[in-house]
Amino acid sequence: MRGTRSQSPWGLLYTLLTLLSFLFFSEATEQLPLGPPADATPKRVAIIGAGAGRSFAAYELRKLAKSAKIPLNITIYERESYIGGRSTTVDAFDDPEYPTELGASIFVQVNANLVNASREFGLGVQSASNDRPDETEESLGIWDGKDFVFTVKSGSTWLNLGRLIWRYGLAPLWTQNLMKKIVGKFLNLYEEPLFPFRSLTEAAAAVNLLNVTAASGTEFLSANGISSRFAREIIQASTRVNYGQNLPLIHGLESMVCMATDGAVSIDGGNWQIFEGAVKASKANVHLNTAVTDIVRGDDGSVHITSKSTLGVDGSESSETGFDEVILAGPLQYSGISISPPLEHVPDEVPYVKLHVTLLASPHRISPAFFNRHSSKEIPESILTTLPEDLDLGSNPHGVGPAGFWSISTLRTVMRTVVKKGQEQQEQHYVYKIFSPERPTAEFVADILGLDWSHDKGPVSTPKVNTSIGDLPQSDISWFHEKFWHPYPLLYPRVTFEEIRLAPGVWYTSGIESFISTMETSALMGRNVAALVVQSWQNRKDEKGDDRSRERSEL
Ligand SMILES: Cc1cc2nc3c(=O)[nH]c(=O)nc-3n(C[C@H](O)[C@H](O)[C@H](O)COP(=O)(O)OP(=O)(O)OC[C@H]3O[C@@H](n4cnc5c(N)ncnc54)[C@H](O)[C@@H]3O)c2cc1C
Ligand SMILES: *[C@@H]1O[C@H](CO)[C@@H](O)[C@H](O)[C@H]1NC(C)=O
Ligand SMILES: *[C@@H]1O[C@H](CO)[C@@H](O)[C@H](O)[C@H]1NC(C)=O
Ligand SMILES: *[C@@H]1O[C@H](CO)[C@@H](O)[C@H](O)[C@H]1NC(C)=O
Ligand SMILES: *[C@@H]1O[C@H](CO)[C@@H](O)[C@H](O)[C@H]1NC(C)=O
Repeated sequence: MRGTRSQSPWGLLYTLLTLLSFLFFSEATEQLPLGPPADATPKRVAIIGAGAGRSFAAYELRKLAKSAKIPLNITIYERESYIGGRSTTVDAFDDPEYPTELGASIFVQVNANLVNASREFGLGVQSASNDRPDETEESLGIWDGKDFVFTVKSGSTWLNLGRLIWRYGLAPLWTQNLMKKIVGKFLNLYEEPLFPFRSLTEAAAAVNLLNVTAASGTEFLSANGISSRFAREIIQASTRVNYGQNLPLIHGLESMVCMATDGAVSIDGGNWQIFEGAVKASKANVHLNTAVTDIVRGDDGSVHITSKSTLGVDGSESSETGFDEVILAGPLQYSGISISPPLEHVPDEVPYVKLHVTLLASPHRISPAFFNRHSSKEIPESILTTLPEDLDLGSNPHGVGPAGFWSISTLRTVMRTVVKKGQEQQEQHYVYKIFSPERPTAEFVADILGLDWSHDKGPVSTPKVNTSIGDLPQSDISWFHEKFWHPYPLLYPRVTFEEIRLAPGVWYTSGIESFISTMETSALMGRNVAALVVQSWQNRKDEKGDDRSRERSEL
């Protein structure tokens, strides 16, 4: 579960998972290149977007081309001003001392691509909840809109384990075993003979995961004998904080991935540094603030790319021609790229979750009154949510329910100098992160923090219908940052996944998001595409070689 302490009962329950971890590293020993023949023209690859997927595609392409001695020239286009895509930080209080994840925040020990790369790039890894203030009696609570259905007490492992078994029996252990089995199947995709895979559908079938993605979380868990109480209160709290979805909607595989949390970490200073490291290692030419608008596929198989600067009102246009391959941005539906002639396989539009991430700082603790409790000490530092028992969401299986938000967590404390009654003084402020399906209103934030505020206060008596956090006084909200994301797809049960090669020379990494949507799986698909691209070059070379030997024998 995101943001729980490694010493927490989750940690204890999930230590079995470490069997699956890749904890031993060694520098990949690469052959020294002999250098390309002087006349060889480099293969030219255009990569659109510099998030997890394509930065790893670039990184792997460089590695493979080097060992196959294929000269290579990579160009990356990124419409944002930064590398990392959905993995990015903002600085709390606009102070570089406090970088805070705005998108993807954690990865886990089984995520070998990210773990290995962070080691290779010399990045510091920290426990995902490193900066938590640890001031309350409970570190984690699961709120159903009315009550905390389960809480984790700070620092008492055995007590927590007892409470867990008391409430759920052995369901936590069965879940753990089931998750290990599923993760074990998934990890086969990392290795020969399956890796690299041309079709994710076929690869998923080969590792027997299609019947896991075919079922909803609810169906999959009940078929495997997991009690509905444990599923609703614990597993669903996890699918909600991780994917903004409830178990009747999200498929069985992703529900299990949410329970694979052993060794949850993040990179000191921001996870985006892994992807920056990958881009650097790829030696690509990087064009930031540059959005690709058009792709034209020539008759000779070469690709022509038109891009536009995203700086200024009327960004200048430029184009480059003669690429051998292009790796498309994803999700394609949000990329604004037109492709002609049309692709052989056009990725289906996939519905995405709409998520508001709100970071805010305040001298106030979370209000006990909001959660029907007496003192701040009783409010868990991380609050996840679930649906109450017997609530029928009807036709809206992805509704947030009476809780109204997916999660609220206390990230850290920061000492601030404030002026009160003309006196400078030090004041402790808390930095919070809220995940919600709607933009939080001023009323909601005021209620959560127990502020005495309402929109009809002040000289203007007409009520403001559309208040937001910015309407609250700076003395109560000392800093905030709001971001709307399309973070991950709605993970409906399905048995087919998007093609990887969309046309000759045109590749797509984002189909994997409907299978498992994480930084790691995007990185895996990026490497997979790189391996397929290099394979296709080698096959073509072999074919040419065969042609030549045939010609020779005919002579
Ligand atoms: C709030 C949030 C929380 C999350 N939490 C986690 C988590 O804890 N752990 C985890 O593993 N995952 C998490 N995820 C999911 C994770 O961020 C994504 O699965 C992963 O980062 C996707 O990487 P990607 O490279 O496939 O796509 P992206 O990161 O979206 O990269 C695509 C890039 O393409 C660029 N682009 C698009 N169109 C164009 C164009 N026309 N021209 C040029 N550039 C273009 C975009 O600007 C972007 O940089 C979270 C996501 C969000 C938003
Ligand atoms: C990670 O590193 C380990 C140890 O060097 C290696 O065995 C494994 O194949 C690597 N995995 C990936 C996905 O890079
Ligand atoms: C790569 O291609 C670009 C043109 O897109 C060119 O400017 C650059 O010099 C090339 N780099 C190498 C190392 O060949
Ligand atoms: C799913 O596939 C696995 C194959 O490994 C099998 O053990 C299991 O019975 C299958 N489940 C269903 C519901 O078909
Ligand atoms: C509320 O405000 C936001 C931005 O401040 C705006 O985008 C939205 O359209 C407004 N909604 C209504 C109902 O006025």
